[in-house]
Amino acid sequence: MNMKYVIVYWSRYGNNKRIAGALAEQLKGKGETQVFTTDEANPTALPSADVYVFSAPTEAFNIQKNMRTFLKQLQGMDGKKYGIINTHGMKKNWLPKMEKILSKKNMEKIAGVDFQVTSKDEKTGNPLLVDWEGRLKEFAGKL
Ligand SMILES: Cc1cc2nc3c(=O)[nH]c(=O)nc-3n(C[C@H](O)[C@H](O)[C@H](O)COP(=O)(O)O)c2cc1C
Repeated sequence: MNMKYVIVYWSRYGNNKRIAGALAEQLKGKGETQVFTTDEANPTALPSADVYVFSAPTEAFNIQKNMRTFLKQLQGMDGKKYGIINTHGMKKNWLPKMEKILSKKNMEKIAGVDFQVTSKDEKTGNPLLVDWEGRLKEFAGKL
């Protein structure tokens, strides 16, 4: 199996960056992965891939603005498969918002995962909660 993956993320404090990097690492056994920020990638001309992954935080009760704009500007993605990742400080995840935008692009969702970011996890000192890598691995397994 030699899959092609493209991961596009936006990150203010580094959590989505870290998640995107860890995911690329976890996908290594399945094929090739390219990782871009929303600034680095062109939403109207993404490299061709079998699966696209979009990863962004919630900010101001919505998907962070740069990612929202990026997703809305996507072109030529009809029938393409995607996975989505959302990090959030509060309880609620905003995956449904990402899904709503992408459904308008006629893309096909294959997986989604969200992570609640704390100021610092008590056990690990990590702002991402315990076993985020395990949950990410489960997500990676679906891609
Ligand atoms: C300006 C700002 C607004 C935010 N608004 C929300 C919010 O409405 N709901 C929420 O759950 N988290 C909110 N957060 C927390 C972010 O979701 C959290 O910091 C982010 O997921 C961390 O990802 P990052 O390290 O990749 O930037 C906000 C953070 C910032 C900086």
